Amino acid sequence: MNYIGSKLTLIDFLKTSIRETLTANGDNRPPQQLHFADLFAGTGIVAAAAKELGCNVTANDLQYYSYVLCRHLIAGGNGITHERAIRLCERLSASECTEGFIYRNYSLGGTRLHDQPRCYFSDYNAAKCDGMRMELERKWQMGKITLDEYFFLLASLLTSIDKYANTASVYGSFLKRLKKTAQREVVLTPMPIVTGNGKYQVYNCDAESLVNMLSGDILYLDPPYNARQYSSNYHMLETIARGDSPIIRGKTGVRTDQHKSRFCSSRHVFTAFENLIAAANFRYIFLSYNNEGLMPLDKIKDIMSRYGSYSVRMQSYRRFKADSDENRPHKDKVTTEYLHILVKNI
Ligand SMILES: C[S@@+](CC[C@H](N)C(=O)[O-])C[C@H]1O[C@@H](n2cnc3c(N)ncnc32)[C@H](O)[C@@H]1O
Repeated sequence: MNYIGSKLTLIDFLKTSIRETLTANGDNRPPQQLHFADLFAGTGIVAAAAKELGCNVTANDLQYYSYVLCRHLIAGGNGITHERAIRLCERLSASECTEGFIYRNYSLGGTRLHDQPRCYFSDYNAAKCDGMRMELERKWQMGKITLDEYFFLLASLLTSIDKYANTASVYGSFLKRLKKTAQREVVLTPMPIVTGNGKYQVYNCDAESLVNMLSGDILYLDPPYNARQYSSNYHMLETIARGDSPIIRGKTGVRTDQHKSRFCSSRHVFTAFENLIAAANFRYIFLSYNNEGLMPLDKIKDIMSRYGSYSVRMQSYRRFKADSDENRPHKDKVTTEYLHILVKNI
């Protein structure tokens, strides 16, 4: 899934940096003996890579759609064979189109009589999405599918419908005319199944409170860098994931009950970050944060250095498209990613 701040292209850099840091500290334990926690998990791609390596994994995110993705990728998939995955998706795809919440609020057909019509999806895709979401709930309520199958299908619906959104990148706005990909009929594509033999936990909490309840070896932190709240940028995925009918407002139809992250506030970010570092009961802490964020690099260094031995690694990479579309008018395509490392005195 295209996601702001996704570390998809940085996985190898992260793996190498983490392995080399542990080795440099004389820690040669195999992954099976390590507990890896990702407290801002987003798409779950980093936590899934840790699971694939064999680590025990905890994943968390404030947004419920991210919880759904991680619940499937990290803690789910049990008993779902490739054939079963295909069959489940085929059956859900057969759901009737229904004029539900997404159709009534985010398609042109459903909002044509509104003062400000919205066009986030074609009429067909919006109604198909509603139909599949409702049918999924029915299947679960009637005991036709397991909980792992429920999250597998919901995660597949989220990642599939996102490909047909009529947006430039995120859900902070929509395009006036249906773009080509949005005109195509949604196809429900099965999410991959990530297998493993470790212990897995997934949470939907604020990282600042959750960190007090955890302990482990490797803590990976990838908080938002700037003032743009993920809850606004991805409000549509939140509503599809929840399957609710929230109060929405304005031209874009954002939820009024959005979670506000303290990491997106220049006033609160330093306290939130230091609280996290101070409370973390983990020996190795890795923070992804670039040089254009709310916290300047020297401030990050100051805070982390108070708790142990600090170092930093850098890697150039191609910026995610959304960052250059409507959110930030950046001209440079290649940017530098910083990985701040703390070997904590605990
Ligand atoms: C840069 S993205 C993470 C991207 C992720 N590493 C990936 O590769 O997909 C930041 C994430 O932090 C989450 N977030 C923001 N504030 C949070 C908080 N206080 N606690 C937990 N998660 C939070 C957002 O919902 C978002 O998914």
